[in-house]
Amino acid sequence: MIHPGAFITFEGGEGAGKSTQIRHLARELEALGHRVVVTREPGGTPFAEAIRAVLLSPEASSDAMTQALLFAAARREHIRALIGPALMAGSVVLCDRFTDSTRAYQGGRIAPEAIEASIILATSGLEPNLTILLDLPPKIGLARAQKRSAAVDTFEKADLAFHEDVRARFLAFAKGESERFAVVDAAANEASVAAVVLATVQDRLGEHLAEMAG
Ligand code: TYD
Repeated sequence: MIHPGAFITFEGGEGAGKSTQIRHLARELEALGHRVVVTREPGGTPFAEAIRAVLLSPEASSDAMTQALLFAAARREHIRALIGPALMAGSVVLCDRFTDSTRAYQGGRIAPEAIEASIILATSGLEPNLTILLDLPPKIGLARAQKRSAAVDTFEKADLAFHEDVRARFLAFAKGESERFAVVDAAANEASVAAVVLATVQDRLGEHLAEMAG
């Protein structure tokens, strides 16, 4: 899909501060005159949010392929109904989690070809212009996430070793696709992480954003 917008995804483990950082960046980009759409996965549209509720509920299937197919269904609807039209209209779309979460969370239990097949069915090849990986040791992230809400979802419940694997997979993707990814240390305080995120976006997409605004 060729579009005049900018698609920026945020990835990372639990409690890395993705939604907080997305809020900061949205404010900065709006101040620069951009139309900004903030959204998340799984979710972003009423139907995809309904799939999210199923995926994160205690009754959710523990089968990784079933999960991957539901994440893919939610993603397809999200792109069709929200992300695609926003990008075609020239907006900046900031998305809390996207395809790399499927690769990192379901990837340990499904063959890479099957993961990629589910992703291509969902996205028809749409890729982020930039992916910000907020990197944090899972021990710190899980403690932050548990402080934020007493309810622990299906994926937060997984053991520390699983979250260490997820982190390692994210870092490996970033290394393999260094043009699309930027790794930001999420252990620092909120304001300094926000400053690094903004500088990174300007560095990587500044020219494109200037063209969009002009
Ligand atoms: P969320 O509340 O968005 O997590 P966080 O607050 O840490 O961002 O919950 C989404 C959960 O779903 C999270 O544990 C990661 C998981 N997930 C997958 O396993 N695969 C996917 O493709 C996506 C998008 C999310």
